[in-house]
Amino acid sequence: MSAVASERIMRDRRPVQAPPLVVDERIMRDRRLLQVPPTVVEMLDADEQVALIARIKRLLVERDATLVAHYYTSPELQELAEATGGYVSDSLDMARFGTDCTSSTLVVAGVRFMGETAKILNPEKRVLMPDLQAECSLDLGCPADEFTAFCDQHPERTVVVYANTSAAVKARADWVVTSGIALDLVRHLAERGEKLIWAPDRHLGAYVQRETGVDMLLWSAACVVHEAFKADGLRKLRAAHPDAKVLVHPESPLDVIALADVVGSTTALVEAARNLPAHTFIVATDNGLFHKMKQVAPDKIFLEAPIAGKSATCVSCAHCPWMAMNGLRNLAQVLETGDNEIVIDAAIRERAALPIRRLLQFAQQRKQAVLGNNDA
Ligand code: 13P
Ligand code: SF4
Repeated sequence: MSAVASERIMRDRRPVQAPPLVVDERIMRDRRLLQVPPTVVEMLDADEQVALIARIKRLLVERDATLVAHYYTSPELQELAEATGGYVSDSLDMARFGTDCTSSTLVVAGVRFMGETAKILNPEKRVLMPDLQAECSLDLGCPADEFTAFCDQHPERTVVVYANTSAAVKARADWVVTSGIALDLVRHLAERGEKLIWAPDRHLGAYVQRETGVDMLLWSAACVVHEAFKADGLRKLRAAHPDAKVLVHPESPLDVIALADVVGSTTALVEAARNLPAHTFIVATDNGLFHKMKQVAPDKIFLEAPIAGKSATCVSCAHCPWMAMNGLRNLAQVLETGDNEIVIDAAIRERAALPIRRLLQFAQQRKQAVLGNNDA
C-alpha cells in the first residue's frame, strides 16, 4: 500500500478491534485516473419544457412504459415520474418497484447500475435509460476482472458488494447490499461466523466496520460526490446553526459521518427530514435530494453541507455528474426510438440475480421482524 493511501485511511479510522483495512495500490492508481465529467444540468425554456412533458406523457402510454427515477435526478423528472404512475425512490426501492409494476418497458432515470439491477430482476421487461453513459464512480472504481482476482485470493471470505456495482461484479458476489441495510446484514453474517470482503465503497465499508467490528477486507473506490464533504466546514456551519440537525449519507468520509445526527440511505434521510422535530437541517448528500425533502417538509430549511472547492474547483459540486445526464430531451428520445436498452449477458444476469434476491428476501424478513416486534 502506498504511504499516502495508508496515511489517509489511518486518519479516518477509530481504534476498534477490527483488522487493518486492505487496499490494493493498483486500485488507488485507477481512482486517480478516473475521469469525472463536468456536471451539466439540462436548461430548457418554458415552452420546450411543456412540449417535452406532453410528448413524454403520450409516449409512456403508447409504449406501455413506466418511468422510475432516483431522488438525485432533476425535479422535472421526479415530478413526471410521480404524475404518470411511476416512482421516485432510493436504489433498492426502485428495483422493488420495477418488479411490482406491470408495464412491459421500464425507463430508469438514474445511473447505469440502477438500469442493470432493474433488468436483472425483470429479464422479460425492456429496460431503457435516457443516457447509457450515466455511470457511477463506485462502479467505475471496481472493474470486474480485478475484483474477481481479489476475491479469488480470499476464497474463505463471503463477498458482499454494494448495489453501486456492475452486473458482472454482482455476479461474483454472495450478497448485494444497499446503504439502508448494510449494518443489519453485516451483523447477521458475522453472527454466522463469516469474514467478509466488502466492495467497492471504502467510506461506507469503514463506517460499517467501525459500527460492527466485523472482519472485513475493503475494496477502495469512493463516490466523487460524497467524498468531497468536509468535516471542518461542517463543524463551522453547525456552529452557526446550533439547532440544526445534520443528515449524512454513509458514502461520506468517516469524520463527516461522526458529526451526523442521522446517518442513512437517501430514503432514511428523507424520513428524518419529515419526522425530526427540527426546523433546520444540514444535509451531506447529493443536492438532488433537496427536492423530495422540500416536498415532504415544505416549512423546513435545508442547507448544503460544505464541500472541498467552490464552483470551478469542486469536482462534482454536490451534484452527481452522471445523474445530471438524465433529462427531458433524452428521455423523450429513448421513448421515441427504443434506443439505450440495457442488455446483459444471460449467464451474468442469472448469477447476479442470486445475491440481489438474497438481499430482497433479507430486507423483507427484517421488515416483518420489525412489524412483529411493534405488534407485540
Ligand atoms: P441510495 O441507495 O441511498 O439511493 O444511494 C444510491 C447512491 O448512488 C447514493 O450516492
Ligand atoms: Fe455513484 Fe456517487 Fe453518483 Fe451515487 S452520487 S451514483 S454513488 S457517483
